[in-house]
Amino acid sequence: MYPIDMYKGSAEAGELAENLKELFSPESVAVVGASRHPGKIGYTILRNIIEYGYKGKIYPINPKADEILGLKAYPSVLDVPDKIDMAIIAVPVKIVPKVAEDCGKKGVKVLVVITSGFGEVGNIEAEQELIKIAREYGMRILGPNIFGLAYTPARLNATFGPKDIREGNIAFITQSGALGIALMGWTVMEEIGLSALISIGNMIDIDVIEVSKYLADDPHTRVITIYLEGLKPGTGKKFMEIMKEVTRKKPVIIIKAGRSRRGAAAAASHTGSLAGMDHVYNAAFKQTGILRAKTVEEMFDWARAFANQPVPKGERTIIITNGGGVGVLATDAAEEYGVNLITPSIELKDRFHRIMPWFGSPKNPVDLTGQAGVENYIKALEVAFESPEIDNIVVLYCRTAILDPRELAKGLVDTIKLYKGSGKPVVVGMVGGLDTFEAMKILNKNGVPAYPSPERAVSSLAAMIRYSRYLQKI
Ligand code: COA
Repeated sequence: MYPIDMYKGSAEAGELAENLKELFSPESVAVVGASRHPGKIGYTILRNIIEYGYKGKIYPINPKADEILGLKAYPSVLDVPDKIDMAIIAVPVKIVPKVAEDCGKKGVKVLVVITSGFGEVGNIEAEQELIKIAREYGMRILGPNIFGLAYTPARLNATFGPKDIREGNIAFITQSGALGIALMGWTVMEEIGLSALISIGNMIDIDVIEVSKYLADDPHTRVITIYLEGLKPGTGKKFMEIMKEVTRKKPVIIIKAGRSRRGAAAAASHTGSLAGMDHVYNAAFKQTGILRAKTVEEMFDWARAFANQPVPKGERTIIITNGGGVGVLATDAAEEYGVNLITPSIELKDRFHRIMPWFGSPKNPVDLTGQAGVENYIKALEVAFESPEIDNIVVLYCRTAILDPRELAKGLVDTIKLYKGSGKPVVVGMVGGLDTFEAMKILNKNGVPAYPSPERAVSSLAAMIRYSRYLQKI
């Protein structure tokens, strides 16, 4: 394992240089190892930085090239005439110390080290050497062994993943590079908007705790999601202290891999982190108000809800549906996840009854019946928003021949916008075919979290309620 003093050094530096501004919003970046050859990592990173629209200065560094992708290339960072805030390093491990030394001399603030072949394969000496150089010159290090980072408000995509990243307010920190890259494309397809995407790899300096702390104060981030395999030894106490502060400011959702015994062993050999002790992580998450998701899908389901909806002010929840079956499934899910479904008062039932076919049900779930049109949904939503008996709203829809889900989606978006000031979160569950999928896209694009099943909608609301309970408790 790692020598303890290395972590001491790293933690101290973390406390000294808490501001990671240059990591997220550098004014200039150099890509060291910017390759001339399409398909290579250094080439792809440079191309992504240019094509995603980074507005700062970009310097390709490659001793064998004069120009790459239309930009003047320099043999070394020391040849660049201007200052460099961030250097992205994509050269083989053997060359990294020399490059880092040059960066130090140049006054670079932060190194983003893409290169593999460090601690994850037992090459601790290389990590120690890199840390030593960074300390000497006061540089920070992200990585090594990462796919880079992106920060959409700065139009910075310094990764070798896909070029396009959908802008939004969900930050995603990942200890797994490959999973992170895979999820970049998936989030675009799923209409999940990201503020930041950070690959943290071996965490020899900047770690998940420090990045979370920075993002807690980032105005462009509303919710922090983390794929975590384990913390570095000796950072448990720091994790508890800082994450308590972070969750006071915004929700944190973690998917902690390595839950099983064999999974923990796999995680240990993947990032060399302290996996295992799952119950300890569970207790730590509970104490710090972190929401623990079991799957990637669940993590982003919950994050989607937090990203655009207000944190619930209370627990009293109503379900509005056009299908009895999905209403029952949502009711089961509500019980399972601890969501309190209200029993509407006679007055409230009367109001619901007036806006539905006579054979509908004004109880909870409010069943508008298969005959419901957009108008019925809008009126039911208005009743729910205006009722002092209700804190949270779940809208469900089953595809019927008489109600085009896309029309419903537009109606819901408009009504929910009108009631934005109500402080009541709304989640939507929809079941149907291709046009229903399109309707969910409309909803998600417009900040209304929509899911392809009643259970996922209820589970997301439940996560918000748990977070709200935690905030009230503290
Ligand atoms: N400064 C700047 N550039 C230099 C250099 C120096 N001192 N010395 C060499 N270069 C150039 C090379 O000439 C090359 O450019 P070219 O293709 O135009 O000739 C470029 O830097 C890259 O060097 P190369 O030797 O071709 O390395 P590579 O691209 O095959 O591999 C890494 C470099 C970093 C990609 C590789 O070592 C690595 O670590 N890969 C794994 C990365 C990874 O998976 N990270 C974790 C993801 S989760």
